[in-house]
Amino acid sequence: MKIILLGAPGAGKGTQAVRIQEKFQLKHISTGDMFRANIKEGTEIGKLAKSYIDAGKLVPDDVTCEIVKQSLEKVNGGYLLDGFPRTLFQAEELDKFAEIDLCLNIDVDTSLLLDRICGRRVCACGASYHVSTLGGKTTCEKCGKPLYQRDDDNPETVKARLATYEKQTAPLVDYYGKQGKLVTVKCGTETPDEVFEKVCAVLENFNK
Ligand code: AP5
Ligand code: MG
Repeated sequence: MKIILLGAPGAGKGTQAVRIQEKFQLKHISTGDMFRANIKEGTEIGKLAKSYIDAGKLVPDDVTCEIVKQSLEKVNGGYLLDGFPRTLFQAEELDKFAEIDLCLNIDVDTSLLLDRICGRRVCACGASYHVSTLGGKTTCEKCGKPLYQRDDDNPETVKARLATYEKQTAPLVDYYGKQGKLVTVKCGTETPDEVFEKVCAVLENFNK
C-alpha cells in the first residue's frame, strides 16, 4: 500500500503513523522529521528549512519534492507519506514519480488543535505524547530518552501553521477526492487508540 496521511497540524498524523507502520509494515516517511533531522545535522537544507518552519510557512516546493523523491527511490514496497504533499504543486509532482493508492485524511475539529500541539512533548525515537497524559513524566515510555518540545510548537507559530494549512494544504482534500482516492476519518475527542481503530477499518477494507 502507498498511502498519504493528510491532516492539519496536530491532527494526529505522526501519532497514527507510528501505529500504522507497525501494524501494516509500511515505511514511514515524514517530511517534517526529515527537515528536523537536517536542522540537527546543520546541513544546507536544514538551514533553509529552519527559517520557514520557525515562521510556520512551508519549505519551498522544489526542495521538498526532491527530498521525497530521493527517499522514495530507496524504498521497496509500501510506504506512508506523513506531511507530504502539502501543496497542489507537490501533489502534481508526486503523481509524476509515484502511484498513490489512498489518501487518508484525518479530520479533527480545529478548536482542538492548538492545545494538542502546544501540549505535545516528543522523543528522538519518534514517540509523541501530550503533557496531560504524562503525569509529570519527562522521559519516553518506549526508550527512556528525555522528552522535549518542538521549537515550532508555540502558540504564535502554531497559528501561522494552521493558516498555512487552510490556504495551501486543505485544497488537497478536493484534489484526492476527484481522483477517487480520498477516505476521511472524522475524529472528535476519541483517544489515539480509538482513532487507530477507525484507521484500521479503512486500511483493512482497502487491503482486501
Ligand atoms: P510536520 O512535522 O509535518 O508538522 P505538522 O503538519 O504541523 O504536523 P504535526 O507534526 O504538528 O502534527 P501531527 O498531525 O503529526 O500530530 P501528532 O500526531 O504529533 O511539519 C513541520 C514543518 O515542516 C511545517 O510547518 C513546514 O514548515 C515543514 N514541512 C513539512 N512538510 C512539508 C511539505 N510537504 N512542504 C513544505 N514544508 C513542509 O499529534 C499532536 C499532539 O496531539 C500530540 O501531543 C499527540 O499526543 C496529541 N494527539 C494525537 N492524537 C490525539 C487524539 N486522538 N486525542 C488527543 N490527543 C491526541
Ligand atoms: Mg507530525
